[in-house]
Amino acid sequence: DRINTENTALAGVRVVITAGPTREPIDPVRYISNHSSGKMGYALAMAARQAGAEVTLVSGPVNLTAPAGVRVHTVVTAADMLAQASAAVDDGCDIFIATAAVADYRPATCADQKIKKSAEDMALALVRNPDTLATIAARPDAPFTVGFAAETTDVAHYANDKMQRKKLNMIVANDVSCPGVGFNSDDNAVTVFWPGGQQAFATESKAGLAVRLVELISERFRGS
Ligand code: CTP
Ligand code: CA
Repeated sequence: DRINTENTALAGVRVVITAGPTREPIDPVRYISNHSSGKMGYALAMAARQAGAEVTLVSGPVNLTAPAGVRVHTVVTAADMLAQASAAVDDGCDIFIATAAVADYRPATCADQKIKKSAEDMALALVRNPDTLATIAARPDAPFTVGFAAETTDVAHYANDKMQRKKLNMIVANDVSCPGVGFNSDDNAVTVFWPGGQQAFATESKAGLAVRLVELISERFRGS
């Protein structure tokens, strides 16, 4: 566990990060999910650790190894994500960063047995999942909260709206309509918004971007 001792921007600060997709079971062999790779969340975990933070990752199913010195709690569903993230915040959290691509809906019921095909058409009843980030941000003991917003249109408008609605301190907006950035890619380009300010970051590797984001988050956290 080698840490760059020059960088102490987050020394002793407790950071909890959600990452990756969730999977919502339909039956014993099927699920609803999305293309999230978890790369942005894992890159932020590494950058925060290198800045001296005590980092906990709450991670959905991904093909990534945990950065050295980072505690990882693995989860499957959105309900698990809320439970594990809440427990991690209960244990002590100064900054909460939600990069996970949580499934907004889950099947109303999970069939006990594999569903057999019968009719030509078939409909699946879905119900809304709990919002981990909004739940954490609404706690009386809420940490400094940072959300992500993946949008395809009106990026600034939707991101600012999400920040206000969920009562966040910052939001990192991704334009996922741009080819080669965002979901499942190695690169990302984002604009960060906070009440009264914004900063754009040009396309670069998620690892490089994570270092800059951790710098900006530390600055705003210190000023809060
Ligand atoms: N988020 C969460 N739990 C959910 C849904 C979202 O913690 N059930 C978090 C994400 O990790 C992200 C932020 O909320 O940091 C915004 O997620 P996003 O999917 O962009 O926003 P939603 O509020 O779900 O709105 P929509 O998908 O309709 O745009
Ligand atoms: Ca969503």
